[in-house]
Amino acid sequence: MKKIVIAIDGPAAAGKSTTAKLVAEKLNYLHIDTGAMYRALTYKILRDGIDPENEAAVVEALKDSKVDLKKEKNEIKVFLDDEDVSKYLRSAEVTNAVSAVSSYKQVREMMVELQRRISNEGGVVLEGRDIGTVVIPDADLKIFMIAGIETRAKRRQKELAEKGLMIDYNKIVNEIIERDNKDSKRKESPLRKADDAIVLDTSNLSIEEQVNFIVNKALEIIEN
Ligand code: CDP
Repeated sequence: MKKIVIAIDGPAAAGKSTTAKLVAEKLNYLHIDTGAMYRALTYKILRDGIDPENEAAVVEALKDSKVDLKKEKNEIKVFLDDEDVSKYLRSAEVTNAVSAVSSYKQVREMMVELQRRISNEGGVVLEGRDIGTVVIPDADLKIFMIAGIETRAKRRQKELAEKGLMIDYNKIVNEIIERDNKDSKRKESPLRKADDAIVLDTSNLSIEEQVNFIVNKALEIIEN
């Protein structure tokens, strides 16, 4: 059976991670969360006391870093220099600094090379900001996932509440808007819909509906 590459891009908190994980499970594909890779590098920068806005210092600190994605049971764990850092990746500190760290050309080159390497045999669902435009421009199926700001903020608030973090709704709205702005306006690989991507607005869809939409599109391609 043909093993295809599925690219899912879109703004912050549009539902990419949950959807990509379930799509990968249904197709028995590998789920590659590229945001988690940039978050792992950002965690290292903050842990080592480096200013995320200082490009030269960030690039120097990351030049020999090793990021690995390993499947353990049903979850992908992110390893940074052989240490499992998965539990640190979604902290507010990392979220606030990740757009700066991921805007640097050399940081992107390192990650894109790795992302292409792990995708080269197909059978993968990659999610991020630049998968369909830069990382794998000839991906078999490209989805650009969007949702209204209110939906996204509510989803993010619920996700944080489940972890015991009660965060003000307006604060979450502002964080999402600011990060989307930075990601869309940066020079290197900005967040942008690929011309041949299918837009999937998840504002009024259940997780099951959005997963089925993508799986059905994928099956049309795989079976043809
Ligand atoms: O889950 P959420 O939508 O909050 O974000 P994420 O997918 O974990 O991505 C975190 C950040 O990493 C984004 O805001 C981007 O700054 C950066 N990123 C990127 O530059 N390129 C990618 N392919 C994926 C993420």
